[in-house]
Amino acid sequence: MLQSTAININGNATGAAGGSKQGTTGKAEKMDTNGMKPETMTDEQGQSANSVVNIKGLSLTFETNDGPVHALSDIDLTINQGDFVSFIGPSGCGKTTLLRAVADLEQPTGGELLVNGVSARDARLNRDYGYVFQAPALYPWRTIAGNISLPLEVMGIPKSERQDRIARNMELVNLSGFDKKYPWQLSGGMQQRASIARALSFDPELLLMDEPFGALDEIVRDHLNEQLLRLWDKTDKTVLFVTHSIPEAVFLSSKIVVMSPRPGRIYDVIDCNLPRDRGLDIRETPEFLEIAHRVREGLKEGHSYDD
Ligand SMILES: Nc1ncnc2c1ncn2[C@@H]1O[C@H](COP(=O)(O)OP(=O)(O)O)[C@@H](O)[C@H]1O
Ligand SMILES: [Mg+2]
Repeated sequence: MLQSTAININGNATGAAGGSKQGTTGKAEKMDTNGMKPETMTDEQGQSANSVVNIKGLSLTFETNDGPVHALSDIDLTINQGDFVSFIGPSGCGKTTLLRAVADLEQPTGGELLVNGVSARDARLNRDYGYVFQAPALYPWRTIAGNISLPLEVMGIPKSERQDRIARNMELVNLSGFDKKYPWQLSGGMQQRASIARALSFDPELLLMDEPFGALDEIVRDHLNEQLLRLWDKTDKTVLFVTHSIPEAVFLSSKIVVMSPRPGRIYDVIDCNLPRDRGLDIRETPEFLEIAHRVREGLKEGHSYDD
């Protein structure tokens, strides 16, 4: 397996842990004022103060009638606050399982997993993450505002505050004015934006997205990629994003995790340092193509020991 090394676009002398916005003092101050619990700032587990996901030696095996399926094996990964991390790899390499483990929807069979410095279960109970699925999964009998409101209602948030949050998040995803529409009155791309607004409604630190744009055509996907990038820049969320698309991964990410199947492993971790205010035209630049090439090579090589 390759080690994490940075492809450094700006030519700064940074290694795998550097070259990104991770270590800025602005972030650390922000975490403080956000009232992070003191224990999450400690280094007890060997994690850096701004790491949001810490995975060490994680494995996950499903017991099936046909025998064990090693969905994840020996995964080591640290994701820092404000990172946008894409997971890319062939079908069945464990991308969804890894995301679901972070969300406490699957239980690892070995290793360590900390989310915001606590167990995945505690992070789930703290509502530390929002989850966006491939299909928007909106309730057809609720309006768009009603769908975004649902997690807030479950949390018992008073109506006036709910209305504020709904308006704010609809604006974030450029859906202002569509609050009274029903999901079926919106295009697929707009529905997916609504499901992102729903995932953001309770202001989670982490956004987990499993191929959210996989079912959309390329033009809509391009548009949503740009919007998601702006949203990430504005909100400073930490994003874990599963995709099959190399251009999508390179365009969006500060870090790309290339995975290989049987058993699901991390083959390469690539730091991307493209300028934060990038537009789609960056996809024509040598820097972009260089990273895309490395991802493609990783996918090819990761696959070959399978044959
Ligand atoms: N609940 C489950 N029971 C048994 N096997 C599973 C289950 N979920 C996933 N798998 C298997 O685990 C492997 C990884 O699956 P998955 O995480 O969905 O991959 P990906 O999202 O990369 O396509 C696959 O071989 C899949 O068949
Ligand atoms: Mg999947």
